[in-house]
Amino acid sequence: MSIDFHQLVLSRRSIRKFMSQAVSNEDLVLILEAARLAPSGTNRQPWRFVLLTEAPDREKIAGAVIQPFVIEAPAVFVCCIDKGAFTRGLVEQRLSELVDAGAVSREAAGIIYRRKMPDKVEDVVIPGFAYLDLGIAIEHMVLQATALGLGSCWVRLFNPDQVHESLSLSPEMEVVALLPVGYPAETPLPRPRFSSAQILLKAGSTIL
Ligand SMILES: Cc1cc2nc3c(=O)[nH]c(=O)nc-3n(C[C@H](O)[C@H](O)[C@H](O)COP(=O)(O)O)c2cc1C
Repeated sequence: MSIDFHQLVLSRRSIRKFMSQAVSNEDLVLILEAARLAPSGTNRQPWRFVLLTEAPDREKIAGAVIQPFVIEAPAVFVCCIDKGAFTRGLVEQRLSELVDAGAVSREAAGIIYRRKMPDKVEDVVIPGFAYLDLGIAIEHMVLQATALGLGSCWVRLFNPDQVHESLSLSPEMEVVALLPVGYPAETPLPRPRFSSAQILLKAGSTIL
């Protein structure tokens, strides 16, 4: 099935009620692949995921979620940022790959090299733009799921520290969001949105 991108965007909804039918491994791999291919600052690719598909595993995070639908979904991606991606050594590796690929000039790379960057993961404070990187990856996943006829919902209303602990994640991981995925058991109408005129600032904009 080929789906026009605008139709895909139009059809996506946050789904909060799922059928119990499992999602195939093939589809879950495609969703992960959509995250893997997302763009990120300096190609750092700081996203990491835990995928919970077995009921006892989803149950492990039950105490951390507020909305029960999250763990009722047959698959839940726990979306994390790896602090290690922001250490100097790894940033330099990513940069030299970009220079070798001709994507970034040596001059531009030099500007990044000269920035203050921690050598050790323990000294990393996750920069704000890391959340942009992870956000793009998650939205890639959401749209891929939609294209496969699956529903999903971004979830931030939960206790990330409790999820971190329940899943015994390593200290360099910061849990940021949950993404439950499954076949929709509801067909919500579009949620309200501002008009184009409300979101396009007047300064110099002439398309509307
Ligand atoms: C960063 C982010 C966090 C969100 N967190 C939650 C959440 O914790 N629980 C929830 O039910 N929906 C959550 N949502 C879904 C929004 O409520 C939803 O996107 C919005 O109401 C618009 O509805 P739609 O996605 O169906 O168009 C979140 C969405 C985003 C982008």
